[in-house]
Amino acid sequence: MGNCLNSSSRVENAQNSQHASYPSKVPSKASSSSAPSTLTAYSTPSTLTVPSYTERTANGGLLTPLTEGEILSSSNLKAFTFNDLKNATRNFRPDSLLGEGGFGCVYKGWIDEQSLTASRPGTGMVVAVKKLKPEGFQGHKEWLTEVNYLGQLHHPNLVKLIGYCSEGDNRLLVYEFMPKGSLENHLFRRGSQPLPWAIRIKVAIGAARGLSFLHDAESQVIYRDFKASNILLDSEFNAKLSDFGLAKAGPTGDRTHVSTQVMGTHGYAAPEYIATGRLSAKADVYSFGVVLLELLSGRRALDKTKVGIEQNLADWAKPYLGDKRKLYRIMDSRLEGQYPKKGAHAVANLASQCIGSEAKLRPRMSEVLAALEELQDPRNAAVMQSQADKRKASGTTSRSPMRRHRTSPRRPTIGGSPLPSCQRSPRVH
Ligand SMILES: Nc1ncnc2c1ncn2[C@@H]1O[C@H](COP(=O)(O)OP(=O)(O)OP(=O)(O)O)[C@@H](O)[C@H]1O
Ligand SMILES: [Mg+2]
Repeated sequence: MGNCLNSSSRVENAQNSQHASYPSKVPSKASSSSAPSTLTAYSTPSTLTVPSYTERTANGGLLTPLTEGEILSSSNLKAFTFNDLKNATRNFRPDSLLGEGGFGCVYKGWIDEQSLTASRPGTGMVVAVKKLKPEGFQGHKEWLTEVNYLGQLHHPNLVKLIGYCSEGDNRLLVYEFMPKGSLENHLFRRGSQPLPWAIRIKVAIGAARGLSFLHDAESQVIYRDFKASNILLDSEFNAKLSDFGLAKAGPTGDRTHVSTQVMGTHGYAAPEYIATGRLSAKADVYSFGVVLLELLSGRRALDKTKVGIEQNLADWAKPYLGDKRKLYRIMDSRLEGQYPKKGAHAVANLASQCIGSEAKLRPRMSEVLAALEELQDPRNAAVMQSQADKRKASGTTSRSPMRRHRTSPRRPTIGGSPLPSCQRSPRVH
């Protein structure tokens, strides 16, 4: 597991034991039709500034880059010392490890709710401390972007950033702790309890609310890294978006896009964005569609263990999405047919629109959200549930050719910890 562990012990929801098999922050060759074979490499910007959300708003949409000092001093975040966070995480002990991403490791820690100083493990408020690998400039830039956006954007479906640490080469971020970890763990970790249909819809709605908020803000924010591992879950499966390191201010005025270096994650990044570097909110909509497909199918956006078209979920699933008779073929076998057919068709239809190749024709996130909320409408839900119950009673649950016979209970165990995932999607950059 990367550089985070020097022993094999971990806390309950430590993950990604084979993370190293798919380096998430290296230039990578594309492997599917949704990604080109060469991708833009980083060029180091000359100044360490990022566009500020608040400044843009205050200046009527003008993009005013802020310096690092301005960003850190203007946020209401707690500036932690490295020593604070060392104490809070028991010296970044391996058994405090919650997970590892491309930028570094995330540890569980404890701080006092009032003073925000380190408290005795097990007392006070639980936090998640992300410690960036001290590997250089790009990590720092994304760290600063995250502080800038999450320091100013507040919404129930965005993870709360409590503070940061910038001391010497050390860059850390302190977040509210999300007890159920990431959606990725629940969908793909070996040994995890399958998520029931209703929870999948709840997660999709929460994530859609987070994205809608960003897209419809006075100064639009494009998230750019929407994926299952960046959707974190609280104890009641409320979804919150994390990782704003790649977030980008959306186009202003009459412009339809902003031109950027291509960044994101293979399998989730929109093909037109990868091909041209032209970024619009519709790139996030594409990624959202891919996550809907992951929720439907229980398959990863990109799976190198599969062959041919099956490696890329969007490419593989597309032909089944509009065909009511064929949809069952891509449904997650772990649902064991326990989903309302009508609801599944509606979600498939929505996913199909989101991953449409013409970016302009994809729905807006607010429309996606409204369509998903319809599914939760008690009247619709009741009809769908009674259909599902009837099918169950008559023994005609939807079949899946990928069915694996499982005996596991259908409801996730509260607090149950999924096991390490077996692979991850490489980052685009
Ligand atoms: N606030 C949090 N509360 C609980 N667990 C968290 C929190 N933040 C992150 N984690 C855990 O740490 C893992 C690693 O997160 P991180 O954001 O560093 O990487 P990632 O999203 O998995 O990958 P990438 O670097 O490609 O974005 C997450 O998948 C999650 O399990
Ligand atoms: Mg992440």
